[in-house]
Amino acid sequence: MEIIKYELMRREMPVEIPKTLGFGKIFTDHVFEMDYTSEKGWHNPIIKKLENLSVHPGTMFLHYAQGVFEGLKAFKTENGEVVIFRPDKHIQRLNNSSRRVCIPEVDPDFLLQALIELVSVEKDWIPNRFGESLYIRPFIFGSEPFLGVKPSSNYKLIILLSPVGAYYPEGFKPVKILVQDEYVRAVRKGLGECKTPANYAASLLAAEEAKGKGYSQVLWLDGVEQKYIEEVGTMNIFINLKDEVVTPKLNGSILPGVTRDSVIQILKDWKINVTERLISIDEVITEYKKGNVVGVFGTGTAAIISSVGWLTYKGFEMKFNNGQPGELDLKLFNELTSIHYGKSEDKHNWLTHIEKKEVEV
Ligand code: COI
Repeated sequence: MEIIKYELMRREMPVEIPKTLGFGKIFTDHVFEMDYTSEKGWHNPIIKKLENLSVHPGTMFLHYAQGVFEGLKAFKTENGEVVIFRPDKHIQRLNNSSRRVCIPEVDPDFLLQALIELVSVEKDWIPNRFGESLYIRPFIFGSEPFLGVKPSSNYKLIILLSPVGAYYPEGFKPVKILVQDEYVRAVRKGLGECKTPANYAASLLAAEEAKGKGYSQVLWLDGVEQKYIEEVGTMNIFINLKDEVVTPKLNGSILPGVTRDSVIQILKDWKINVTERLISIDEVITEYKKGNVVGVFGTGTAAIISSVGWLTYKGFEMKFNNGQPGELDLKLFNELTSIHYGKSEDKHNWLTHIEKKEVEV
């Protein structure tokens, strides 16, 4: 693979990170870009100034949504080191998503190097306030101008960076979730397990309708029987029962979340009984009525751990922990964030440490 070219802009002023960040609203100065053609494969890797794209109106992605993306985070640890959380797992998932929508895979080692080099260039944009991080958004889209339906011959891969705070405006306050019993997000053997824009388009109407009724997000049920719980708009879901923590098993229509995987590992480390299995909404309600639901929480890169305070299904509202964050949710949030910021031992080698090197920007 070629050496990454640098075309850096000269910063007149030191980077100033706004006091309140929210999620995905501001972007750093540079992006990584690379192109694919059938003749050359992936080529032209470059780190350059962030600029608007100029695309042909016939660009295939705009018509047929052939694209994939990832979301991962870089943190500044307590001692000023820069780390990226589980980039290998995200890169692997990007390639898995790509295969499903006929996008050529990327050499994982090269993409990791690109992530590291871009984050090094933009290290001044990594917030060091607790709960904040640099969100990394790699994405690929079919860039050939053509109106027939087929895989694009050309692609563009871009890595965009955005300093972020909490995903939900509620912060760590528990969210209200509506169990969606009308629309479906995905079906088994469809696109559900891929991080592809189409899945998010499919979720918008339900999410908007739920917002109109005062909910933050929806909990999707399976696409065939609408019986088993699957995932929340931007998170995987865990039900904390008295003797078992349950999360829906990956069946092809659920996103294999990296935070989901990390939480399962942490629970196992703590010797908590965690299972991945089918769990129906009726079972959740039955256990709730018996007083066996200790709490419900969601996991995701953007959301980290988010307590669910209320879950409503067909007009029946379940309230957990009196609308306060659950004990286990807080413990998991503290453990994950302690790993992110270098306060807890990284015993599973989830952090990729970025060597300090001075890049003049
Ligand atoms: C993430 O958690 O990284 C996600 O991808 C959610 C999102 C689409 C904002």
